[in-house]
Amino acid sequence: MGQKIWIIGGSTGIGRELALQYAADGKDVVISARSEETLAEVAGIHPDRITALPIDVTDVPSISAAVETLYGDGAGPDIVILGAGAYQPMSVDHFSSEKAAKIMEVNYLGVVRVIEQVLPFYRKANAGHLVVLASVAGYQGLPLALAYGPSKAALINLSEGLRAEMAGSGISIQLVNPGFVKTPLTAGNKFPMPFLMEADDAARRIRKGIEGKSFEIAFPRRFAFILKFIRMLPYALSIPLIRKGTNQ
Ligand SMILES: NC(=O)c1ccc[n+]([C@@H]2O[C@H](COP(=O)([O-])OP(=O)(O)OC[C@H]3O[C@@H](n4cnc5c(N)ncnc54)[C@H](OP(=O)(O)O)[C@@H]3O)[C@@H](O)[C@H]2O)c1
Repeated sequence: MGQKIWIIGGSTGIGRELALQYAADGKDVVISARSEETLAEVAGIHPDRITALPIDVTDVPSISAAVETLYGDGAGPDIVILGAGAYQPMSVDHFSSEKAAKIMEVNYLGVVRVIEQVLPFYRKANAGHLVVLASVAGYQGLPLALAYGPSKAALINLSEGLRAEMAGSGISIQLVNPGFVKTPLTAGNKFPMPFLMEADDAARRIRKGIEGKSFEIAFPRRFAFILKFIRMLPYALSIPLIRKGTNQ
């Protein structure tokens, strides 16, 4: 495998910051997302290091074409960061299967589709590294996150299963669970976002985590710890705590 990192969702927010930091560090990076223009703008910052490769994770042929371009010669990226994501708040007042399906299509099935296409190459090489961007919102059900939360819970579950099956193989998988990060994805949130962090800080923590090899990379640590602790409580305690913490 070549020394390359493929960042899906690399045009804005956390993915963009990861691409810029890796490129500044001398790594070769391929960035993918739908907007060709935004990808070209990011690639233009380090034209010698960053290559733009547009894909839509809801469109299988676009993923197949990208995977063939990258892995067809057997020297594709050895790390794939699966960070394409969509977010819309959904509450009981605006409960919609259409909205839930749209979010699931991008956040969950988008990751599954890419893994499906990359895995045969990784298995053949008995090497490779998958990094799945989920969220602390996937730890447990949260108000307003009735579409987004389940998509991230599904990613956590999927990553755990893959980790268990692939342990001992040459293929590794890591799960990233960030708290709130200042990006276009959260820009429209009207509610207070505790422990909100900058995207460059989030990218630094992810890069450090990828070097460290722990299965889960969760941050800010205090916020992730609080949410994990609440998840371990009986529902009779955790649900009132969640209601209180989210002003329900
Ligand atoms: N920001 C947070 O607080 C936070 C917290 C926890 C987890 N996360 C997760 O971290 C990841 C990155 O989020 P972010 O905050 O950096 O958001 P962002 O700035 O909105 O970035 C989302 C990226 O995904 C791409 N994308 C969206 N739909 C796509 C599709 N159908 N096919 C291909 N690419 C697509 C976007 O580009 P195009 O629109 O051009 O396709 C963009 O590059 C997401 O998975 C998000 O759920 C974010």
